Amino acid sequence: MANKNGSEKVRGLEGVIALSSELSSIDGEEGKLVYRGYDIYDLAENASFEEVVYLLWNGDLPNQGELDALKRDLRAARELPEPVIDILRKVPDTAHPMAVLRTAVSALGLYDDEADADTPEANRRKATRLLARTPAIIAAYARLRDGKEPIAPLSEASMAFNFLYMLNGEEPGTAAEDTFDTCLVLHADHGLNASTFTSRVIGSTLSDMYSAVSGAIGALKGPLHGGANREVMRMLLDIDEKGADPVDYVNEKLENKERVMGFGHRVYRTMDPRAAILRDRVKALSEERGATKWYDYSMAILNTVKSEKGLDPNVDFFSASTYYMMGLDPDLFTPIFALSRSAGWTAHLLEQWEDNRLIRPRAAYVGKTGRTVTPISERA
Ligand code: CMC
Repeated sequence: MANKNGSEKVRGLEGVIALSSELSSIDGEEGKLVYRGYDIYDLAENASFEEVVYLLWNGDLPNQGELDALKRDLRAARELPEPVIDILRKVPDTAHPMAVLRTAVSALGLYDDEADADTPEANRRKATRLLARTPAIIAAYARLRDGKEPIAPLSEASMAFNFLYMLNGEEPGTAAEDTFDTCLVLHADHGLNASTFTSRVIGSTLSDMYSAVSGAIGALKGPLHGGANREVMRMLLDIDEKGADPVDYVNEKLENKERVMGFGHRVYRTMDPRAAILRDRVKALSEERGATKWYDYSMAILNTVKSEKGLDPNVDFFSASTYYMMGLDPDLFTPIFALSRSAGWTAHLLEQWEDNRLIRPRAAYVGKTGRTVTPISERA
């Protein structure tokens, strides 16, 4: 349908270029993802999450001094305001973990004196605080709901190490830290995905960073976006509990016109490179442990969905079994996605505010026209 400017309405904004960004680019045909010019395979292999955060926020990879300074700033900002911990203590048992995270991140803004300060320096400090505190929120919430007290992070360690430590109360091994760090690198940014777009729309009104990131968390929660990783694990666990054949299970879903979570993508027309990296991780982890069940189920599903629907897996398909094999609760998979994507959301907000213009598209009105108000007493 043509709008007032003569252009066509695009359902779901597919393929629409809404803004310019220097942060990340996706080649959907080739299955390539690049952060600021660096291929995701290169970053996953050779850079830590903190280096990627620096890259996204600053444009280049850090030298040692710059990395040390970022880590110092993140460490200094990690402590949660006590009232935010109190909120975590009081959330109902039935709350969705992403709703808890959304609420707690929003509450962080209440206790930040700079919440509405809009200088680039203040926004940079808020980005640091947000990124540093999101893992602390998730870990504290996970412990409190299990009747345990939150644990303070260790001072020197990486964000990956500290998150696992704050969650489990035990220092993770090098392999777990390394795998988790890679997951954080892979999820840090991804073009103008739904949650990032949400954050930029909110930012474009010159609202504050906490509002924009809370909104982004709300968008990520949905099962068509970040919520898919939890649904993938639910499917794998359901197959296991029922003792079902994964091929029959997934064929039944497809026959019933149900979506198979973790498959398909708006941009990729081939395998999501993040899925390929995680597939290899799951395979290696499974072989190391001599327990290949989740990998075997996943590959059977992958081959079936590919041959029946021509769809490839996205990042959520293999992140599910990766996290599960690391002993993480499926309920926390999407909050962990948010932990990593906070790097991208904040980087996009900093970029948005460098050259802001209100994001305000239009809708093609297809409703009724020409009506007049009947007095209420005369309405049927
Ligand atoms: N299972 C079964 N069929 C599917 C799936 C799927 N996962 N994904 C797409 N299709 C089919 C869909 O039914 C439609 O078929 P038809 O034309 O016959 O009606 C066709 O493929 C096109 O689907 P669409 O919904 O128009 O495509 P989209 O670009 O709007 O959707 C998507 C992209 C990711 C929402 C969709 O592929 C999907 O629902 N996937 C499952 C949820 C998921 O894994 N989400 C995570 C996305 S990647 C990580 C992230 O960014 O969060």
